[in-house]
Amino acid sequence: QKKIKAALLGLGTVGGGVYKLIQRRKDEMEQIIGTQLEIVKIMVHNLDKKREGIALSLLTDNWQEIIEDEEIEIIIEVIGGIEPAKTMILEALHAGKHVVTANKDLIAQQGRELLNAAEESGADFLFEASVAGGIPIIRPLKQCLAANELTDVVGIVNGTTNYILTKMFEENVSFESALVKAKELGYAEADPTADIEGLDAGRKVAIMASIAFHTRVVFEDVHTEGITKITEKDVAYAKDLDCVIKLLGVAHDTKEGIEVGVYPMILKKEHPLASVRDSFNAVFVHGDAVDDAMFYGRGAGEFPTASAVVGDVIDVARDIQYECTGRISCTCYKDTPIKKFEE
Ligand code: HSE
Repeated sequence: QKKIKAALLGLGTVGGGVYKLIQRRKDEMEQIIGTQLEIVKIMVHNLDKKREGIALSLLTDNWQEIIEDEEIEIIIEVIGGIEPAKTMILEALHAGKHVVTANKDLIAQQGRELLNAAEESGADFLFEASVAGGIPIIRPLKQCLAANELTDVVGIVNGTTNYILTKMFEENVSFESALVKAKELGYAEADPTADIEGLDAGRKVAIMASIAFHTRVVFEDVHTEGITKITEKDVAYAKDLDCVIKLLGVAHDTKEGIEVGVYPMILKKEHPLASVRDSFNAVFVHGDAVDDAMFYGRGAGEFPTASAVVGDVIDVARDIQYECTGRISCTCYKDTPIKKFEE
């Protein structure tokens, strides 16, 4: 039985989780896929860094070694950021390799270009982990809910800020000390500005809106406000009203165009999103047939994110095994205008 070979690009928090999860679930995955899946190369930036439990022979800092290896069929990109990830993904797709990525920055900015490249080469290109970590949301939007006219996608899609706000409300800690803890727990981005200024959530909103509304929404279309201006006074005021403050990512498909934004909102304690605590994420969706649906779970962290990445890898491996790769289904057939944000 021919093994399916994959290369992992990046061995940070998510990459480490992906590698460990694939090792842990090796036997079960073989049953699900119908053959063995093996990570044969791991691309890292610094070969000298000490890494426990990883055979040195797997590590490389040479992209050519991976891209030129015809036996490697799946590229798992968890480096993050635009470059060099974009070039590598495009080269991989052009070489006919299938790609799984968790890269929200890239999808939110250049998703269409990458999807087109995948379509041209007949490759699978999956990015479930790019929004809300372990919560299945990309597939539900593009597949399970495809029969709907979706009009609203509203969610808490940044774990770091939700963690910070939860601590501020429940433990009366300062914004700064909650942020330090969020970093320690591996929720925050390398540069947490993206989290606390709402940029990370904005990228996720752009991705969800594009898929849900079958149009092209890029990060620059999304109005973003963060939580850095929320003071202890605001927290006390919201508490007095029996409310909480949540950073919401909002996407509405209205008659006047698409509204996309990220901003802190005061929510009544009874609101379903108000009970989403800690680093948990939740996405509320409304469609004409399904009515209301809500997805809840861990939106960040090593294994929750790895769960989504490895789920995609299993999907691709099954497509390879059953010779049905290239089923691109993020159809973008509209060109809906974006509504300007009104304060
Ligand atoms: N920094 C992100 C968050 C990680 O806090 O949600 C997951 O995208």
